[in-house]
Amino acid sequence: MKILSLGSLNLDHVYAVDHFVRAGETIASTKMENFCGGKGLNQSIALSRGGAQVFHAGRVGADGEVLRERLAQSGVDTAYTVVDPTVPTGHAIIQVEPKGQNCIIIFGGANQTIDPPFIDDVVSQFEQGDIALFQNEISNLDYAIERAAKQGMQVALNPSPINEALRNSPSLKYVKWFILNEIEGYELSGEKEPQAICEALHKKYPGSIVVLTLGKQGVLYSDGTTTARHGIYNVPVVDTTAAGDTFAGFFLACTARGLSVERTLELASKASSLAVSRPGASDSIPTIEEVETTDIQRAE
Ligand code: RIB
Repeated sequence: MKILSLGSLNLDHVYAVDHFVRAGETIASTKMENFCGGKGLNQSIALSRGGAQVFHAGRVGADGEVLRERLAQSGVDTAYTVVDPTVPTGHAIIQVEPKGQNCIIIFGGANQTIDPPFIDDVVSQFEQGDIALFQNEISNLDYAIERAAKQGMQVALNPSPINEALRNSPSLKYVKWFILNEIEGYELSGEKEPQAICEALHKKYPGSIVVLTLGKQGVLYSDGTTTARHGIYNVPVVDTTAAGDTFAGFFLACTARGLSVERTLELASKASSLAVSRPGASDSIPTIEEVETTDIQRAE
């Protein structure tokens, strides 16, 4: 089974700050680093490091070649990752404060030039039963979701960053797996409690599987009949960037490999905890071997 990840590629400029900048304030950062990122790229790398055969589709400008190289070095097939010198590469400005929390501004650039002909070309290379993974940092996401579903692919969506257009999108009825956090769950369901979010999403999108990440409370999985939970692991929090991307990629990779729900949640939770203990986005994502052999304890 092949996995297509059609998503964003960003150059991440990461600034260490004492606190997030406030309105009207100018602050000095204590460190600046550049990383390969973008939710699409991070999730493709997590899929690959989680043991999946993954193809990344997306677009970068001339200065984004480094992103394509990073995907390839991480075992991702880049046949559909296009370098277009006429557009700027997407980028992100990320502030990270001492407790490892972040806030992010993205500039879409080439990610916002994904158009229906490109989507048609890519999706037509996949077959019934293959998986398509999307996030909300590319243009024509609606079209891509519907096109993949009509190709017979199983659609996974990480609705991040959530916005009005996605909330009201009719394409959500094609989604099999929603991999989302509580805020996104609230935006899509109108409910605040984890169990209520799952129930409302099952009602709105019958047959879907909800994988709800709950920060320090771990994760809640619900397919409408079965529910499962898993907690987080004890690690020093260095940088939370890409923690959700790591979880999404590992969850889908382990699911595609046919692992049980319990084992899948365990490996994805552990991978995401390890990512939190390291700086950067894609740089922080562990391999499946590291996840299986690193001895970290479940938090109480
Ligand atoms: O999820 C983290 C990612 O969000 C960063 O790598 C940044 O590029 C933004 O897309």
